[in-house]
Amino acid sequence: MKDIAIGIIGGTGGMGKWFADFLQKEGYPVLVSGRKTRMDIPTMVEKCQVVIVSVPISATREVIEQVGPLMKKESLLMDLTSLKVEPVKSMLRSSVSEVIGLHPLFGSSADSMAGHKIALCPVRAQKWLDWLKDIFIRNGADIIETTPERHDELMGLVQVLNHLNSIAMGMILRESGLDLRELKRFATPMFNTKLAIIEKVFTNNPRLYAELITLNPNIHKIIDRYGKTLSDLKASIDKENTETLMELIKERSIWES
Ligand SMILES: NC(=O)c1ccc[n+]([C@@H]2O[C@H](COP(=O)([O-])OP(=O)(O)OC[C@H]3O[C@@H](n4cnc5c(N)ncnc54)[C@H](OP(=O)(O)O)[C@@H]3O)[C@@H](O)[C@H]2O)c1
Repeated sequence: MKDIAIGIIGGTGGMGKWFADFLQKEGYPVLVSGRKTRMDIPTMVEKCQVVIVSVPISATREVIEQVGPLMKKESLLMDLTSLKVEPVKSMLRSSVSEVIGLHPLFGSSADSMAGHKIALCPVRAQKWLDWLKDIFIRNGADIIETTPERHDELMGLVQVLNHLNSIAMGMILRESGLDLRELKRFATPMFNTKLAIIEKVFTNNPRLYAELITLNPNIHKIIDRYGKTLSDLKASIDKENTETLMELIKERSIWES
């Protein structure tokens, strides 16, 4: 099946380029487009049996609505978006092709997909699903088949809560007025690990993190819960009572003690 041509819209950016390089190494002809490339969407769809959308989350729906109606029934439309409900809905609505939503649960700095997870939403998939899974399994990825709704619910914790927490901590560090070098001189190993994560969120791709948070359909539930938890913590600390805080930590632990 190596004569299958694959088109990646957004294939000049981080994750799209990662997949373009990967699929080329797998032996497939890959065409890429970005806003500044000459390749336009109709030409790409005409030449490719598989099209992958990998543009910023906020632009995904508009791009899918351009590409979807051009896809043929026997072709495959996929996306790499970090959220799945809205993109998958748009792909199903705008095309007659097979549709698989993907979310690589790793960043574009990964050397390979070996040992990494890929969430897969095969919502209208028949002949292409085995082809895709075979590529990922051969390359050592751990495939998680799920629904778009379940995926976005879990990403509410894995990404929204996680990055929100890093952003809040980074902002407090800045507001403390302390010099970063001095802070690093006093860093424990755990703090160093956290600092490296916070640095990534603040310097890597702020748009991606901001969109992951604001566009997750569960954002309001999570931010309310985050606020309430901070208030509960503050209430127990205001009592200046170690026992109360310790009880709170024990009571609200996800781990069995
Ligand atoms: N980066 C990651 O670690 C990661 C991990 C998992 C999933 N994802 C997902 O991958 C997708 C892309 O993220 P990214 O980090 O790779 O973004 P990125 O580095 O900013 O790349 C975005 C790509 O989309 C193109 N583009 C931007 N706006 C467009 C538009 N309106 N129409 C057509 N093309 C457009 C860009 O082309 P120009 O630059 O030429 O405009 C570029 O090729 C997102 O949905 C994200 O959730 C990213």
